[in-house]
Amino acid sequence: MRGPLRITIAGAGYVGVVTGLVFARHGHHVTFVDLDASRLEALSAGRVPIHEPGLPDLLTEVRANIAVSSNLKDSVSASDFTFLCVGTPSSADGTMDLGQVRAAATEVGRGVKAGHVVVVKSTVIPGTTEGVVIPALEAGGRKAGRDFEVACNPEFLREGAAVRDALAPDRIVVGGSPKAANAVLALYSWTDSPKLVVAPGTAEMIKFAANTFLATRVALSNEIANLCTRTGVDWVDVARGIGFDARIGPQFLRAGVGFGGYCFPKDVMALAALGRSLSAPSLIAEAVVGNNQVQYREALRLLGEEVGEVKGKRVALLGLAFKADTDDVRETRAYPLWRDLTAAGAHVVCHDPIAGPAFLRVAPGARVVKSVGEALAGADAALFQTEWEEYKALEPARFVREMARPIVIDGRRTFDSSALRRAGVRYRAIGLG
Ligand code: UDX
Repeated sequence: MRGPLRITIAGAGYVGVVTGLVFARHGHHVTFVDLDASRLEALSAGRVPIHEPGLPDLLTEVRANIAVSSNLKDSVSASDFTFLCVGTPSSADGTMDLGQVRAAATEVGRGVKAGHVVVVKSTVIPGTTEGVVIPALEAGGRKAGRDFEVACNPEFLREGAAVRDALAPDRIVVGGSPKAANAVLALYSWTDSPKLVVAPGTAEMIKFAANTFLATRVALSNEIANLCTRTGVDWVDVARGIGFDARIGPQFLRAGVGFGGYCFPKDVMALAALGRSLSAPSLIAEAVVGNNQVQYREALRLLGEEVGEVKGKRVALLGLAFKADTDDVRETRAYPLWRDLTAAGAHVVCHDPIAGPAFLRVAPGARVVKSVGEALAGADAALFQTEWEEYKALEPARFVREMARPIVIDGRRTFDSSALRRAGVRYRAIGLG
């Protein structure tokens, strides 16, 4: 590989920050650009703007190699590579809103110089790199493939394990011409993970296919787990039994209140919308979306079986982040749980080890307390939505001692059912018959 390169990261969100810091760790000079000045201030002050295990240490380690800028065009002009890591949220109809990608690409196109490589890292609908990004870049007057190169390099990192995933990727997928792909692959010469060079549209589809497959596994697990609950079977044993089948494998078979986060819900919805727009309806993706929208109600059903009417009852809602080890509450299943319980007249007391402030921004009326003890005190039931280690470590006797009624509804199969039952807890869980 050539010596240190200058890399612009457009968009300092989860993907942008992690990607940029990993490149900085491999000796490159990385400039983060974002419209949100507070993110840039945080980074230049040595603070990470998101909660992600391992990220603060990584930032401390590479601080000498990073800079921030609010001027995308100038940063691009002074760089060898630009990674587009901006958001691709859902529009109201489920299609992907490419506004940020288009705007960023247009600005990058004004700054590209000869030999520059623009890399699309944002998750984009198949056809976007060639149909949207390249035309926006070329509006700056230079031609892709002649004056500069363009590639698509989707990101597969999981929040909460993002640093680990980015430092040891299980594969590198690059979509683009051989010249563009080789330039991007050189940035990953430090890893011996499998590398796949394909057309840009294929790279984009690989990302969508991966997320839709995984989300479908989760949705199908939930659906069968709901049958287990009603037939006296434990889904955890069923999952173990099918997971030994090499064709199925053990991963992503955890049943619960459904998936959340920034990727699965919006990507599956976007794939379904793509199917509709191409007159090739994706019936499975549509079903996965529909299944996930209502799965949280299974926890409410179990709660109802234990406490009856929730009106006037005090319910502790534990875990507000969409999953453990993140402060991300986007599409968290805690939100519909809180909303429906509140609408039904329950007094909901919420807790999360770190996502409380973020949850208050999406649910401004929520009561969020600072400790598990405050949430449990006098509660008629506790409903666990996130599998935090802090919750797993709770001593079962505490539920009996501190709650008005020791009823635990486990929305993520966080606990050992026999330990809780031995302690005198009424324990119900999704997929536990
Ligand atoms: C996902 C993909 O894993 C990652 O490759 C992609 O780049 C981005 O989307 P992320 O959303 O961070 O990552 O988290 P992930 O661990 O995949 O979990 C997604 C959701 O599914 C969470 O709400 C999680 O609780 C849920 N889930 C996951 C289950 O309910 N059961 C499982 O077995 C696995």
